[in-house]
Amino acid sequence: MSEGAAKKEEKPRKFQAIRGTRDLLPPETALWNRVEQTAHEVFATFGFGEIRLPIFEQTELFARSIGADTDVVSKEMYTFEDHDLHDLNLRRSRSITDIELFTEPTNVGIILPYAKHFLTEAKQELTAGKLPRTPSNEFLLARIESDLEYLATVTDATPRDAFRDRRSELRRNMQALELGPVISLRPEVTASVCRAYIEHNMHRRERPQKGRYRQFYQIDAEVLGGTDAPAIDAEVIEMVMTFFERLGLEGVQLHINSIGDKKCRPKYVELLRAELSKVKDRLGADSQRRIETNPLRVLDSKLESEQKLIERMPHIADHLCEECAENYRGVKKELELRGVKYRENWRLVRGLDYYMRTTFEITAKGLGSQNAVCGGGRYDGLVELLGGPPTKGIGFAIGEDRLILSLQESARAHPGDSGSPLATRHSPLLYIAWMGEKAYTTAIRAAKNLRNAGFRVELPPLEQKFGKALGQADKLGARFALILGDNEVTSGQWTLKTLADGKQEKLRESDLVEHLKKQL
Ligand code: HAM
Repeated sequence: MSEGAAKKEEKPRKFQAIRGTRDLLPPETALWNRVEQTAHEVFATFGFGEIRLPIFEQTELFARSIGADTDVVSKEMYTFEDHDLHDLNLRRSRSITDIELFTEPTNVGIILPYAKHFLTEAKQELTAGKLPRTPSNEFLLARIESDLEYLATVTDATPRDAFRDRRSELRRNMQALELGPVISLRPEVTASVCRAYIEHNMHRRERPQKGRYRQFYQIDAEVLGGTDAPAIDAEVIEMVMTFFERLGLEGVQLHINSIGDKKCRPKYVELLRAELSKVKDRLGADSQRRIETNPLRVLDSKLESEQKLIERMPHIADHLCEECAENYRGVKKELELRGVKYRENWRLVRGLDYYMRTTFEITAKGLGSQNAVCGGGRYDGLVELLGGPPTKGIGFAIGEDRLILSLQESARAHPGDSGSPLATRHSPLLYIAWMGEKAYTTAIRAAKNLRNAGFRVELPPLEQKFGKALGQADKLGARFALILGDNEVTSGQWTLKTLADGKQEKLRESDLVEHLKKQL
């Protein structure tokens, strides 16, 4: 390469984190571990066991359970077709581009060969079992064939509108053909095991801000099967409140509501729709649309200009059927029996379609507008909707990122509080300062034994003078330095220095671990 060319060589590209994602690094990850460990401990005392699930599922599963009109499904999912039909896919894109370019009947001869080729290959892949043989794909292939037959008959005399309509239909049909199963990264979880919990990263393409990310972490717990006695709802809520209390989370506020069931909710929804329609022209575009699609979601609105209007809407608590009203009274009584404080919030409908009866959300301090650290509710009927047997279900998900943010905010407000969840529980660090080849072999052996005994050990990879090594140990916050030089190796008497007070003592190798343990 010439010098000039070398100079012009491109600078290495700097890669940046994908929007809405971030690295979690030490020492912060120690807090994450601590939070998760506490969840394991507290949840186990309530009889929950851990499950782990795949990170993607069929898109249809989420569309059916969460609801096609929810923000999560309609706007925020990371979805893709999972297939290896790359050639067919390319041919499809090429054909669609052609179809878009040629807008006049006279051009149709140019469109046809590519599109026909695509059809032939798609049929071959269908026979080979690579293109999914779904009713929808079979229907679309038949329509594409008929569209092409029609377009082959087009002449200058064909009315332009008829030609254009059929051309657009061909394009839509080609686009709709599913080359493989459509799958999405999991945006949430409603698990399938009785008393189970899970920690997972979830994916939602939301607008990132403090406490809102595109990859975030949830600790989720579900009770499936068994009874729907109010005591279950209350116990699940008690469990998450116990967990927050154990962590010392501050400003915890539990909000509860009942959104009825499929007997009483439709009547309330109609009433709400009628009332909202009366003020429709004073509502924003999202709420106007939701009056038709899902009026309950209007109650979720945070738009300042809508608040006064929404506050005047009828409350669902006044329209529950007797069974739901009884159930709601039961849940509140059970919470009181457990000493769990709650606040009723009639607008808490939650953004996902599958809920019925009990819904709840928990907010905490220091989080700004995204202050919900946990959301959940009952979803009897969901398992049935997805093709399973009738099953009662209730669960929640804790937003772990927000939980950690809130704990960090509290720790900043009370620095030096050793009871704070931020206080590290690491064993003290021991730094091994070594000089000389023989000492190095001894140092490796010492590091291995100390680590096996549970100590955190820093073993420098290169020889350095003792002065420099001890300075480094200080910088790292080590509590002890083990000094190994020729003298120590020859005499078998090792030097242990306590960095805080500079005290040095001589110890035999066999006594070291016990001696250190006594000092903890
Ligand atoms: P969710 O209300 O969508 O419910 O989410 C639960 C919690 O996850 C929220 O309260 C929040 O703390 C956290 N969260 C949600 N989106 C984000 C985000 N983009 N960035 C950071 N944190 C976020 C569910 O997901 C239901 N699956 C809960 C459930 C389980 N209900 C029954 N079982």
